[in-house]
Amino acid sequence: MDVRTLIRTKREGGELSDEEIRFFIDEYVRGDIEHYQAAALVTAVFIRGLNDRELMTWTASMVRSGRVLTFPSLPQKKVDKHSTGGVGDKVSIALAPAVAACGVCVPMISGRGLGHTGGTLDKLESIPGFRTDLDPDAILRALDRTGVAFGQQTKDLVPADRLLYELRDATGLIESVPLIASSIVSKKLAEGLDGLVLDVKFGSGAVVPDPEHGRELAHVMIRLARSQGLRAVAYQTAMDRPLGRAVGHALEIVECLDCLAGGGPDDLRELVLLFGGEMLVLAGEAPSVEAGSREIARAIDEGRALGVFELVVAEQGGDPRCLRERDRLPRAPSVEPWKAPSTGILSFRDNRKVGLAVGALGGGRSKMGQGIDPAVGLVWRARAGEAVTRGDVLAEIHHRDGFGLGATETLLAEAISIGPAPKLAPLVLARIDA
Ligand code: URA
Repeated sequence: MDVRTLIRTKREGGELSDEEIRFFIDEYVRGDIEHYQAAALVTAVFIRGLNDRELMTWTASMVRSGRVLTFPSLPQKKVDKHSTGGVGDKVSIALAPAVAACGVCVPMISGRGLGHTGGTLDKLESIPGFRTDLDPDAILRALDRTGVAFGQQTKDLVPADRLLYELRDATGLIESVPLIASSIVSKKLAEGLDGLVLDVKFGSGAVVPDPEHGRELAHVMIRLARSQGLRAVAYQTAMDRPLGRAVGHALEIVECLDCLAGGGPDDLRELVLLFGGEMLVLAGEAPSVEAGSREIARAIDEGRALGVFELVVAEQGGDPRCLRERDRLPRAPSVEPWKAPSTGILSFRDNRKVGLAVGALGGGRSKMGQGIDPAVGLVWRARAGEAVTRGDVLAEIHHRDGFGLGATETLLAEAISIGPAPKLAPLVLARIDA
């Protein structure tokens, strides 16, 4: 087989056979297909899509590019949550320890930043020493000791997604239902789970902004997961404004610590309780989502969830002193107040630009393998729907010696609007179960 034939077939709108799909995934992982050839095929898939059979085979080939985790020695149920990504979406970092504090294991393989969205791995790695490149034995050990393993795609675990994810990020090939669905579901199938909660974001800061399109993505992912025997439930949640106040890696860790200490922004806590409640139901540990959410709230408010997070940080090589001495986390040398240009009600006309603004400060990548600055970012002093007066500080910009500051200010000015009261989308739009 020749990858150029596959590129031509898909480019012309044809179907790839199962053998061709397996060939592409296997050879790309083996290093026998070049990144530029893979980029051409992924572009063709982005434009032409995959039918149900192609998507099923594509996803299954990604899963079997590595190992599937099994945990015969762990009696607890294993559940996870994965988001399609957003601006300030830090939910997983507070959620996983809260669920583990209720007796359920969370083997979580996450991603790095993708496009304008930040990644859970990058956020966690802003904790000095924290490592996410766990091999299957280290994942098992972490789950056994703490109930949580924050892992990444490695040469053993979904290596196909490791390559395709990075490739899509560097080539802007992100907003595609089959590429997103196969990326997310392959990771989750490799985790050997009993249940999965999918958070499908909608609004201008989401990877798929249109709620109808997002609904289709949710259905596709649920069908894909269930076809492999994995019970999955999806929620559509708002990304028409940043989630919480912090956007930026270490700044978001601080907000997660606040959440785990029982405080932090209301929207973050609401999603942690909701998804946690659903995860406990999937694990058979709660009779209803509401009852499960109450359990999660108790685990947070009694300090048990923060205790689990401290164990997780130590287990994964991080410095647990950061939890109490937050100035041990990376801090940008300068903070610039960004002020309201007029008076009115704050809203976000293009939340995507908030994510791009953090990228401009050095918090994002434009090439495969590039490093990021974990310290830079934004903390919103005002939130969507609040009245602001000209000259009020809307956000603090945490920057490194002015790097990207001008571009960030321009992007922020384009991201927001100040005027009459906006119609805010509900934080939780829908629960999708089929
Ligand atoms: N999260 C993933 O893991 N993959 C995507 O494509 C989008 C969000």
